[in-house]
Amino acid sequence: MEIHRFEKLWLVGALVLIVAFIGTIVYGALGAGVAMVDDSGGTVDPDDPTASDNFRETGVYTTDDGDVEAYVIARQYLFTPGTTNPIQVPVDTEVTFYVTSGDVTHGFHLPGTNVNTMIIPGQVSEITVEFDETGDHHIGCHEYCGVGHHNMRGTVDVVSQSTFDGDEVNDG
Ligand code: CUA
Repeated sequence: MEIHRFEKLWLVGALVLIVAFIGTIVYGALGAGVAMVDDSGGTVDPDDPTASDNFRETGVYTTDDGDVEAYVIARQYLFTPGTTNPIQVPVDTEVTFYVTSGDVTHGFHLPGTNVNTMIIPGQVSEITVEFDETGDHHIGCHEYCGVGHHNMRGTVDVVSQSTFDGDEVNDG
């Protein structure tokens, strides 16, 4: 059977498109740094998260390796730290957020970054990110958590490494 030249061109074009679409899906899944938040953060008592070995007093800490860890508790309708005081972290440094809830399910989302997770009472969400520019990031709660949900927000303040205070226990 003879296949017309234009018919062949259309077949090749369709195959190229299919391969390209599969390529974009593979890139989105593996290449863009998108990952599910798993249960590596462990569990805590939601009534007193800081009493657990899996959690510390809320605040920002520098590890011995020079990485930074931020411990954040979400409660109706505040991130502590984050809402009253911004979470200050240094630029070009690995920052791991450990976030848990003291009451109901909340969300923790920094638009424009890969930081985006649900916060479940009793469960610690662990997310590692490296910010490559200084500046403020808005924190939004994107899980409906009560009448004040739409006002539940905070700030992550990415500062230069020389401005960063280092260890800082932040109550508000
Ligand atoms: Cu917290 Cu919505």
